[in-house]
This record gives sequence, structure tokens and C-alpha cells, in this order.
Amino acid sequence: MLKKNISNSIKLLKYYKLINFNLIYNNKAINRYKKNNYEISEDKSKKLELLKKEIMSLKNCELKKQAKNIVFCDGNPKSKIMLIGEAPGANEDQEGLPFVGRAGILLDKMLAAIHLDRKKVYISNIINYRPPDNRRPTEEEIKRYLPFIIKHIEIINPKILILLGSTAMNALIGKDVVISKMRGEWIEKKIGNCKTSIIITFHPAFLIRQPAQKKWAWIDLKMVRDKKIELKIN
Ligand code: URA
Repeated sequence: MLKKNISNSIKLLKYYKLINFNLIYNNKAINRYKKNNYEISEDKSKKLELLKKEIMSLKNCELKKQAKNIVFCDGNPKSKIMLIGEAPGANEDQEGLPFVGRAGILLDKMLAAIHLDRKKVYISNIINYRPPDNRRPTEEEIKRYLPFIIKHIEIINPKILILLGSTAMNALIGKDVVISKMRGEWIEKKIGNCKTSIIITFHPAFLIRQPAQKKWAWIDLKMVRDKKIELKIN
């Protein structure tokens, strides 16, 4: 009798899944928008489009004049985990996507080590256009782009914010801090109107140059993995 009941319940559940029960019986207005295969709210999608347009209409920016493409984001805009790097390099400029060169390959491996990938996180940079010859962005350039990345964070509203390297750290946490002291601990902070848990770790390009430092990055990654569980992020 019990076996039969369980079997009937399973059949019913499968059937509800098949007919997309939630979609049919949910009273809320269906206001979903498919963008790059991610179903996000129309509001969020519009805000992201608007922000991208604002950046693209920047006047008198030498970086923008020399770059091939804007590098705005990659990944899932619905994700509760956002990563921020420094600025695009040559490969990113070519493809219009962040972290697709050598540093990106290592970043993908770092994410995979904690069972994450680009479909589960959201990635952007402090600066949206490639600095010539991959030089570090200047203070002035960082100042110009900072309001945009703050707005970007507000729109995505991540629960976990991973800052990759000292440029992202100095831009968003403060200039008078050093990465060797700041990495490996959680910082609870409000960026714009987004309250989030921030962790700073080494930039993958730095780790390519200094592989001995990967052990520290691994500790940071494990902290992200644990926080993800604590915050019930899947
Ligand atoms: N380094 C960065 O900081 N960002 C990229 O997108 C690529 C390399």
C-alpha cells in the first residue's frame, strides 16, 4: 500500500514537472526576459543594457578610442556570485568578453576547483576597455570607470563579491591597503546600495607569473566554497 502511494506521488511529481506546474499556477505576472540564454527580469535586463549604453557613450576616453570592443560582462546575471578583474587584455578586446585569454583559462580552472563555472557566476572588470599594451589603468581611468562598476554591482546585487587582484581591491576597498594583508578574509561592505560579502584574492595573471602563490588562492577559493554553502547559494 505504502509502496503504491509513493509510486503514485512520484508519478504525480513527474507529471507536474512535465506540465511546468509552477508556470501555470503561479499567480504572479510572468515578466521574464531571455538574454543570452539566461532568464532574467525585464527590469534587470533593461538596467544592464542602459548601463552598457552609458559606458559606450563616454566622451573623451582614450581607452575607448583605441579599443576594438567594449568588454562588459560574461556569465549569469542572476548569479549571486560576482567576480571583478582589472581590465581587458588583447584577447578580451578582440572577443568583447572578460577573461578569455591565458588568465581566463586559469580563472576557469580556479572556478572548476570549487564546482563553479561561467554559467554559475557573473564576471566583469573595473575598466571596460583595454588599456594599450596591457598597461595598468591609471588613477584617472579608474576614477572615470568606478561609478559604472558600482552601478553594475548594484544591478547584479551579488551576495558574494570576489575581487581579483589589487586594482579591483584598491578601487573598491581603498588605496591604502595591500593585497597580501587583505586576501583570505571576508569583508562585509556596502558597495553603492548593495550589501555584500567581499573576498579579495590574487589575480590569475599574477598567479601565472608567481605559481608558488597559488596555495593562497586555493585557501581563498575554499572560503568561497564554504560561504556559498553557508548562504545556500547553488
Ligand atoms: N585580466 C583582467 O583583469 N580582466 C580580463 O578580462 C582579462 C585579464
